[in-house]
Amino acid sequence: MIVTDAVSGYLSGLRPAPDEVLSEMEAQAMVEQIPIVMPDTGALLHVLALASAARRVIEVGTAIGVSTLYLARALPEGGTVVSFEIDEARHAAARDYLGRAGVLARADLRLQDAREGLAQLSGTFEMAFVDGVKSQYGDYFDALLPLLAPGAVLAVDNVLMSGTVAEGRSDGHWSDEQIATARAFNERLLGDGRLTGTVTPIGDGVLVAVRR
Ligand SMILES: C[S@@+](CC[C@H](N)C(=O)[O-])C[C@H]1O[C@@H](n2cnc3c(N)ncnc32)[C@H](O)[C@@H]1O
Repeated sequence: MIVTDAVSGYLSGLRPAPDEVLSEMEAQAMVEQIPIVMPDTGALLHVLALASAARRVIEVGTAIGVSTLYLARALPEGGTVVSFEIDEARHAAARDYLGRAGVLARADLRLQDAREGLAQLSGTFEMAFVDGVKSQYGDYFDALLPLLAPGAVLAVDNVLMSGTVAEGRSDGHWSDEQIATARAFNERLLGDGRLTGTVTPIGDGVLVAVRR
């Protein structure tokens, strides 16, 4: 937890209860230890997609579709979130859940390495969410930046890694190498003249930036 227990508890009390499908997804993730966005991060993604009036969204790391659901629910009729996942079972589970949630028409789920898939995309997107393997974040960023329209929103999860990125040392879960990579990535993005961004201590730390 990056924020205090009191803040976390307060925020949790403000949130609406998850619907049936989202509850099932959260339960599966808990049992199988599948890393998914924290509820406040999901809510942030939903708001960002609405605020950017996104019609086309890129997602790196579908897992079982939790963040995809938050994004897809913000899209207008005809909107799409193109989401990449390399794990076949997770990809299939996401398809099932998103179908049951009634948003499968807005989810273009691809069982493909995002580094390969991003290179095959064309046109522009109004939003991107990065939540794949942390050591590959730089590669995802290089591939997706040219696809972002001016004014598009980029969100990147886990940029504070339970607070260890600020402290600069491992907590046993996040390694020193991962922390060093995350620090370099945050500095790189916030220093990139093609973006205006900030790091928010929401969930596990979300970097939010706008493409200039
Ligand atoms: C943190 S989880 C994603 C969680 C998801 N965004 C959510 O909140 O519901 C990261 C996922 O990225 C997938 N992944 C790892 N490397 C990938 C790659 N190169 N391309 C696409 N997906 C990848 C993993 O299999 C894993 O399911």
